[in-house]
Amino acid sequence: MEYTELIRIRESVRNYDPDRSVPSEVMSKILDAGRLALSACNYQPWKFLVISSSEMLKKVRNCYKREWLNNAPHILVIIGFKDQAWTRGYDGYNSLETDIAIAMTHIILAATNEGVGTCWIAAYDPAQLREALKLDENQVIYSITPLGYPKAGYKKSLIKNRKPLEEVVKFL
Ligand SMILES: Cc1cc2nc3c(=O)[nH]c(=O)nc-3n(C[C@H](O)[C@H](O)[C@H](O)COP(=O)(O)O)c2cc1C
Repeated sequence: MEYTELIRIRESVRNYDPDRSVPSEVMSKILDAGRLALSACNYQPWKFLVISSSEMLKKVRNCYKREWLNNAPHILVIIGFKDQAWTRGYDGYNSLETDIAIAMTHIILAATNEGVGTCWIAAYDPAQLREALKLDENQVIYSITPLGYPKAGYKKSLIKNRKPLEEVVKFL
């Protein structure tokens, strides 16, 4: 798909077909877009967890209780490793959250390109999710997304409710 079109049609999908899993070759393409993402110093401080088993899906859905999430056949969690991310010498700024946000964005756009729906989710219970995934101290999560095909009849909104360009851009 042409890039400007991809950006225009990407939207948060909250209506999934529970009976349609993402085929492994499509899933690989989507995940590979995350693998190819840029990161500070190219440290790639991440791991992509694709959750598809009913046992694990139940645990993760419990951390963000929304009816619509129950229909998503997969949930992707990006785990970041604190000790693998770049730290700026001047002030200790650590790039982990930024690196992971970029990888997640690559994945979301690649999924859109494959007709697979996503929805960036951050409002889960983080302590519960850490417990469900048995993360250690060094591992963090900033976002998760369902991956799945929108239900038959799902209509894209195609309305971008965004601030006008003049409001968000300044030329100096
Ligand atoms: C950092 C971040 C956190 C978000 N958290 C949630 C969330 O917890 N639940 C949800 O349904 N959508 C969440 N969203 C999706 C936004 O609500 C959505 O991207 C925004 O309203 C614009 O709509 P669009 O994605 O359809 O263009 C989140 C998006 C971002 C970038």
